[in-house]
Amino acid sequence: MLKIEKNNQPKVKPPVKELGFGKYFSDHMFQATFTLGEGWHSAKITPYQALQIEPGASALHYGQALFEGMKAFRQTNGDCVLFRPEFNCRRLADGAERLCMVAPPQELMLEGIRELVKIDRDWIPSSRGASLYLRPTLIGTESFLGVRPAEEYLFFVICSPVASYYAEGTAPIKIWVEETYIRAAPGGLGATKAGANYAASLKAAYQAKQRGYAQVLWQDVGHEYVEEVGTMNVFFVFENEVVTPKLDGSILPGGVRDSVLTLLKKFNIPVNERKLSMKEVCSAYETGKLKEVFGTGTAAVISPVGELSSPHYKMVINEGKTGPLAQRLYDAITGIQYGDQPDTFGWNHKF
Ligand code: COI
Repeated sequence: MLKIEKNNQPKVKPPVKELGFGKYFSDHMFQATFTLGEGWHSAKITPYQALQIEPGASALHYGQALFEGMKAFRQTNGDCVLFRPEFNCRRLADGAERLCMVAPPQELMLEGIRELVKIDRDWIPSSRGASLYLRPTLIGTESFLGVRPAEEYLFFVICSPVASYYAEGTAPIKIWVEETYIRAAPGGLGATKAGANYAASLKAAYQAKQRGYAQVLWQDVGHEYVEEVGTMNVFFVFENEVVTPKLDGSILPGGVRDSVLTLLKKFNIPVNERKLSMKEVCSAYETGKLKEVFGTGTAAVISPVGELSSPHYKMVINEGKTGPLAQRLYDAITGIQYGDQPDTFGWNHKF
């Protein structure tokens, strides 16, 4: 039975134009605890509040920390929906398996998420392009300094009303192709949403920002093949084919990536998940066959890429403008999310 402790000091909601990404948090949060022997228990909704964990908690020392990103939308007719929540619950469970953590059962995650968005329903913005971003998170909380999987976990979900992830809004972004650092390696954590992957990305992303680029494009360990952007998966539109890097264990299996693959098939546009080298991208650019590049992600939605640069090249893609396919996919996905298009794939969960 889910306990609900209502927040009797609700906050003033920020105006939509102030939202940006991840700056504000709603009035409530969901939490549940795992202890060995008892299993998952103490599921509750409480006011949004600071956590109390011991300084010896495994998440703080050995990185047992995993998160998800999902969104709730207020549709044009006033209905509220969660977009593909089972996808995120499944991916959290897969990540937990890799990090030797114990994930809550899917029904518990879904119930907690649903009750939380119901109670914080007024926090779902009504403007197009804005939504309530949910951050389900799993951390090891056992206080023990030996290196082994924790025997106690906390699962919590917080909510943040958001607009565009990038400062550029929906305008094309500039991306730096990273040639020194890597995000992930075969056999590592790259396919999970472990906090550690984001820690690994910060230095290169910071340096790219200093150069005027919004993000970096990660390559494989040999700095030959394209992987992902870290905040999003990436698609390349060539003359006769759309390509996204194949999920090889070091790329995050994104939910919007999966939705885009489904939509491209529906549009009868040839799409391949395969290995793609930067050499191939550069040569397609030189011969005029590279038409568009865009990223996909829960936070990023569909983000057109207007420039790809490294110390060795500068590619201005589609004259730095949003391409027709990125626009079509953005309209299709957001059309389903905001309820203007029929949800033929059953992606929305009304609550
Ligand atoms: C998401 O798209 O949900 C992400 O997690 C990307 C980023 C905000 C970390």
